[in-house]
Amino acid sequence: MRSVVSGDVEHPTDASSQRLRPTSPDTITAEVIARLDACEDERLATIMRSLVTFLHGFVREVELTEGEWHDAIRMLTATGQITDERRQEWILWSDALGVSMLVDAIGHPFPEAATESTVLGPFYVPNAPERPYGAHLDEVPAGDPAWIHGRVLSLDGTPIAGAEVDVWQNGDNELYATQDPEAPETHLRGRFTTREDGSFGFIAVRPTAYPIPDDGPVGQMLRATGRHPWRPAHIHVIVRAPGHRSVATHIFDRDSDYVDSDVVFAVKQSLLREFVERSADDPDRPQGIQGDWWSLRSDFVLVRSDDTGELVDPGRTA
Ligand code: BEZ
Ligand code: FE
Repeated sequence: MRSVVSGDVEHPTDASSQRLRPTSPDTITAEVIARLDACEDERLATIMRSLVTFLHGFVREVELTEGEWHDAIRMLTATGQITDERRQEWILWSDALGVSMLVDAIGHPFPEAATESTVLGPFYVPNAPERPYGAHLDEVPAGDPAWIHGRVLSLDGTPIAGAEVDVWQNGDNELYATQDPEAPETHLRGRFTTREDGSFGFIAVRPTAYPIPDDGPVGQMLRATGRHPWRPAHIHVIVRAPGHRSVATHIFDRDSDYVDSDVVFAVKQSLLREFVERSADDPDRPQGIQGDWWSLRSDFVLVRSDDTGELVDPGRTA
């Protein structure tokens, strides 16, 4: 390209300089979108055009100031800095802004009678120990014993033998094993296999509500916008069975605080269950439980599919 120098500044003189249009909010958006004509990946071009359109529309709508833009850059930088192989602050943003649940809702349109999915969350660790029917999930004391039982069924009501019920939960100190330096790695985690009649049963502890990690940028956003960081009490479950679509879901304690205001928007009406109070002399008390206990029944209904839809572990958040 030819250029002329006037003072210290080079001015391009070729035809491209003649084509530059005056910069205005509308021409900037149009220019950025036009640049995507070069993108050969059609899906990527669709996503990027839409992203630019909405992002520019947002900046225009709120009339973002330079100071606010700097704040946003600082927040994004802090998010990158706090994220490592144990903590995933980006996913926490997605969770706390409802994006994770939106992606889940679009990606998992289950029939009405099937068990609904919900967020996987950051505390899932694959390869939990295999445990037999009726075993404890807790390896050190972690709360009131709770007998969790039910059946895994296909959508037509057929019991599924040999299904895997992969479970993890927090203890009464509000922590998952991955967050708790005092706990064994396999504490409050286990994989159970359904019996011939599709049944499973294990001794968990009654979960407590707990706050998501809120010592980083997401916590700052929650406080600045008047939101709390709490999740209602729940037990995580992934159910897998050959010939069926896997489901990552929760059993929610319907009597827990925050059921109506889960910080990650993951509560679904169909996933609420009752913990029933039981006394030590209850004749149904399972072997392995001493004293008073709770029981909770939850069946899981899977959709037949050639594609089991294996889940991707998105990384931990604490
Ligand atoms: C959880 O339930 O483990 C969880 C889900 C989303 C964000 C943080 C924690
Ligand atoms: Fe959880």
